Amino acid sequence: MADDDFVDVVDADELWDGEMESFDIGDDEVLVLKVDGEVRAYDGICPHQSISLVEGEFENGVVTCRAHEWQFDALSGNGVNPTDTCLKKHDVRIMDGVIQVRLNHAVTH
Ligand code: FES
Repeated sequence: MADDDFVDVVDADELWDGEMESFDIGDDEVLVLKVDGEVRAYDGICPHQSISLVEGEFENGVVTCRAHEWQFDALSGNGVNPTDTCLKKHDVRIMDGVIQVRLNHAVTH
């Protein structure tokens, strides 16, 4: 069981490179993805409107929202199109083969 507010979300082996999944942590939907061997966790809701990003596409390191096709760099969370936006990042780590997330409400990225 995780301490210091990190929460187990999924076995690291179950999330493949180029995959994204969403998880509910409390009232928050969190998008967890793996790209180039790196794991990232972001708010699961598009910063444009209230659409779940997991319903969109994840290709070539870019997450595309299904609603109006805003795009985000999966590694940095920065907006690709448009560029003046970004995904809110949560802390993520792998402990004993399990991906853990700590919600980061204070940081707006
Ligand atoms: S809700 Fe995601 S691009 Fe509009």
